[in-house]
Amino acid sequence: MAAGLPLEPTDRKSFRPLLLMGPPGAGKGTQSRAIGRAFGIPEISTGAMLREAVRRGTPLGLASQSTMEAGCLVSDNVVCGLIELRTAEPDCQRGFIVDGFPRNLPQAVFLDGLLLTRGKPKALALNIRVDRDVLMKRLAGRRECPVCGTAYNVYMSPLQCPGLCDADGADLIQRPDDREEVVQRRLEEYDRQTKPLIERYRSLGLLREVDGNGSPEGVTAAIFSILNGS
Ligand code: AP5
Repeated sequence: MAAGLPLEPTDRKSFRPLLLMGPPGAGKGTQSRAIGRAFGIPEISTGAMLREAVRRGTPLGLASQSTMEAGCLVSDNVVCGLIELRTAEPDCQRGFIVDGFPRNLPQAVFLDGLLLTRGKPKALALNIRVDRDVLMKRLAGRRECPVCGTAYNVYMSPLQCPGLCDADGADLIQRPDDREEVVQRRLEEYDRQTKPLIERYRSLGLLREVDGNGSPEGVTAAIFSILNGS
C-alpha cells in the first residue's frame, strides 16, 4: 500500500475497509457518516444496530439492553455475528466504514479472518484522539428530541427552554448510557479493552490518527486530508 493513501481504491470501484476508532464521544459516528456520504459507501455502527434492536424489543435487543445501559461490552459472539451478516450485504461489496468495531482483540482477530476468507484487503484503522474533559461534556451533555431527532448539547448549545426541544417543544431524552456514571464506565472499558488495539494496528502499519478536538467540520476536513494523502 502506498503510504498516505489509506482509502485508495483497491480497484476502480472498491475501497479498503475503514475502521473508525476512538473513545466514546470521539465523533466516530459523526465522522463515519461524513466519510460514507463522501465516498458513497455504507457506514456500519454496531452501537446503532444494538440500539435499534433494543428499541424494537427483539430478543437480541432484550438480551443486550442491560449490558449497554451499564456501559459494558456486549458479547463478542453477538457483535461479530452482526458484522458478519451486515458486511455480506450487496451495498458493502465496494467497501464499508465501521464505527465501534472491533472493540477488543478477539473482535479484531475475527475481522481479520473474515476479510481474509472473503478475499478482501486488510482494514485500515483511523484513530480519533479527543481530550477526556471534552469527551465527558459531549456525552453527558448530549440530548435528543424524540419527535424531530434534533441533537443538542446542554453544555455547548444552551436551549431556549431547558429540557425542551427548541423546534417543537418536546421533552428531550438522554441516551441511558450517557448518564455521567455510565460514561465513566464506558471510558474505563475503552481504556481496558479497546485502546490496546491502537498499538496493534500501528505495529501492522495499518493506523492513521487525527486530532478530534476541533469542530465536526474541521475534523472531517483533517480526515479527508489524511485519506487523500496530503
Ligand atoms: P456506541 O454506539 O459505539 O457508543 P460509543 O462509541 O461508546 O459512543 P458514541 O457513539 O456516543 O460516540 P462516537 O465516538 O460515535 O461519537 P458521536 O459521533 O456519537 O456503543 C454503545 C454501546 O453498544 C457500547 O457501550 C456497548 O455496550 C455496545 N457495543 C457497541 N459496539 C460494540 C462492540 N463492538 N462490542 C461490544 N459491545 C458493543 O458524537 C458524540 C457526541 O459528540 C454527539 O452529540 C455529537 O454530535 C458530538 N460531536 C461529535 N463530534 C464533535 C465535534 N468535533 N465537536 C463537538 N461535538 C461533536
